[in-house]
Amino acid sequence: MDSSVSGNVDVVSGDARLAGLWRDLQARLQDAAVRYPDAVLSSSLAAEDMVLTHAILANRIPLGIFTLDTGRLHAETLGVIDAVKARYGYDIEVWRPDAAAVEAHVAEHGAYAFYESVELRKVCCQIRKVAPLKRALAGRGAWITGQRREQSATRTELPFEEHDATFGLYKFNPLAEWHFDDVWQAIRSFDIPYNPLHDQGYPSIGCEPCTRAVKPGEDVRAGRWWWESSDSKECGLHAVNILQRQS
Ligand code: ADX
Ligand code: SF4
Repeated sequence: MDSSVSGNVDVVSGDARLAGLWRDLQARLQDAAVRYPDAVLSSSLAAEDMVLTHAILANRIPLGIFTLDTGRLHAETLGVIDAVKARYGYDIEVWRPDAAAVEAHVAEHGAYAFYESVELRKVCCQIRKVAPLKRALAGRGAWITGQRREQSATRTELPFEEHDATFGLYKFNPLAEWHFDDVWQAIRSFDIPYNPLHDQGYPSIGCEPCTRAVKPGEDVRAGRWWWESSDSKECGLHAVNILQRQS
């Protein structure tokens, strides 16, 4: 591991808001690791998850990190796995979809069925993301995500922690209160590696065919499943956002 990131070295000076957020984040992650020693970070390899990755690895918090490689990610996104290895000496665990299920879906509906209907889009997300996530979380007590309240209409009431009834374990959202600018302030302050697509107009990054760049001033998730309405924009990983907070 690079000596500049080993140990508890992260100190934020000159930015009181970030210093407070950073202190709270480390405390939340430490607390999660103590209460659930098998808790894992589910990383999309996008900006928020890189902040969490840095907080965990630079401070040696004993939490694992995995990603779901859907088979439709951008090459730049996959490159982040190597960037993490180079910077922290850590191998992010990679979970992939069941090849036979993907083949059968593509054979029946084609490789771009997600553009046809919300239903077919959700089936694709189910096969490529939700089923592998179930395998990744099997037997574990808790998982950690990089969701933020500000991100979407379905996340405005996101708690820091909750029981996830969809997957049957505890769930931590330690960046719930962070703003977009906080994420980037942390990335710049700690020189955290990040997906180069973020510099090309992609504030939020998912699978390649379901993500596009946004124009200045557009919502940060406007480029995700842009052909759907904003209240259906969850892929099933966070169905609890819709199920548990419907009023
Ligand atoms: S999504 O539901 O719209 O795809 P988003 O991209 O906002 O989710 O990411 C929210 C959180 O879901 C991430 O911080 C991460 O914890 C988890 N997540 C999303 N995509 C993946 C992925 N491919 N692999 C692992 N975790 C993911
Ligand atoms: Fe399929 Fe698009 Fe969902 Fe990726 S985001 S799993 S390509 S529907």
